[in-house]
Amino acid sequence: MTAVSFQSVAYLLAALLFILALAGLSKQKTAKRGNYLGILGMAIALVATIGLALLHAENILLAAGLMAVAIAFGAVCGVHKARHVEMTAMPQLVALLHCFVGAAAVLVGFNSFLMEPGGYFAGQMNVYHLGEIGLAIFIGGVTFTGSIIANLKLSGKIPGKPLTLPGRNIINLAMLIAYVALIVPFGLSRGVEAGLPFLIVILIVSLVLGIHLVMSIGGGDMPVVVSMLNSFSGWAAAMAGFTLGNDLLIVTGALVGSSGAYLSHIMCKGMNRTFTGVILGGYGNGDASKKSGGSKQDYGEHTETTVEDVARLLKDAKSVVVTPGYGMAVARAQFPVASLTKQLLAAGIDVKFGIHPVAGRMPGHMNVLLAEAKVPYDIVYEMDEINDDFDNVDVVLVIGANDTVNPSAETEPDSPIAGMPVLRVWNAGKVIVFKRSMGNAGYSGVQNPLFFNDNTDMLLGDAKSSVESIIGELKKQLRS
Ligand code: TAP
Repeated sequence: MTAVSFQSVAYLLAALLFILALAGLSKQKTAKRGNYLGILGMAIALVATIGLALLHAENILLAAGLMAVAIAFGAVCGVHKARHVEMTAMPQLVALLHCFVGAAAVLVGFNSFLMEPGGYFAGQMNVYHLGEIGLAIFIGGVTFTGSIIANLKLSGKIPGKPLTLPGRNIINLAMLIAYVALIVPFGLSRGVEAGLPFLIVILIVSLVLGIHLVMSIGGGDMPVVVSMLNSFSGWAAAMAGFTLGNDLLIVTGALVGSSGAYLSHIMCKGMNRTFTGVILGGYGNGDASKKSGGSKQDYGEHTETTVEDVARLLKDAKSVVVTPGYGMAVARAQFPVASLTKQLLAAGIDVKFGIHPVAGRMPGHMNVLLAEAKVPYDIVYEMDEINDDFDNVDVVLVIGANDTVNPSAETEPDSPIAGMPVLRVWNAGKVIVFKRSMGNAGYSGVQNPLFFNDNTDMLLGDAKSSVESIIGELKKQLRS
């Protein structure tokens, strides 16, 4: 087998493993296996790519040394970041990682344009190849600066407020038109001197577009933007694959690009938003409550409860459903929640989890936290699997969730979250809501009428300490 056909087989195997990895990651039960398959695919891809690059290198030792330094540097930085990142800081880390993909696509594009042996200099680089290079640099540039801005907004280093320049959508459109106007003469140009100025201006336009596009979107919409940039980074990698003639990079880029786009679609659907609505901005910027007719409505008085009463309620319940939300993540309450679940199951009480698709601040946020705390996945249900069963549930524990359990999404057509699918927890016998105060609203900034229902009691305080206190109290009550 020649080195090239060995590489083709290795790439085919890696591509298959990536597809199987994605299939595995779609279900909690198979997610671990999916992860391992992805790691194996990446290991095969790396060995085949590095092996072939070394075979073609003029100075094998120098090439091997340079690659070892680059890999070691990347590995040390990656492991350090991954070990220290808080779960709540994952979206900004993901955004940062996307900026590297964008930068890589830009560098590969320039490298391909300037260095291709005997290609461009011999005047043989065809218009399609130049088009691929121009597109790789454009998408890469937008991804690069867009991801940096998303990272800065999510980490609070710059204000999350959208930048609302007059005619901002026209500015974005003008930059897209400028790209099209530049790519045509670039594709038809001959020689580095003729093509390079076009390419540099394309890069500048893309960098400015990335900054402006993401600066114009409210901080609250950043998770959707991050998944959109994830998609961009995939397409940038696929374009880099075309310029390098690397089939695996094309397949992998297309997988990332399309799964990122689908993820953005799922997130928008879970929030009842449109993708263009997110791009055009005007929501999730912290002032949504001001637009809400619902938030000013008087829903009456709320009822507060105590740890002792909640423990008693749980002891006497036959079935309990926990619906966690962003507050559980902030409080890092997943570990006591897992202990409480264990305690209830041991006492013969049926416990289930109901997970809203956009609970928290990133897709699968709650599933990751519950898996981290070793909550058995077979008691974790998606919203659609559990939503019709709340009538038969004795107690629902709403732990740091707000918008995802807000009935006004179904009952108030003028509410900013009208039409958003929600967990119908209010149909249960009793609802206990864990939150710190009555003053704060959820992510969308709208008031939640659930808190004022007759069958809802509020347990005010930090979710972690509240659940820990319930565990202690329940232990006492179960013993007596
Ligand atoms: P939210 O509506 O954000 O509500 C969070 C709740 O947690 C609030 O009631 C808050 O009240 C409480 N909380 C905060 N810290 C707490 C603590 N330490 N202890 C106890 N409670 C605490 O949460 P949700 O129901 O998960 O909804 C998620 C929202 O984010 C949705 O609107 C969704 O559209 C949006 N969103 C989600 C995503 C993804 S992909 N998941 C992406 C973008 C946007 P207090 O402050 O009073 O404690």
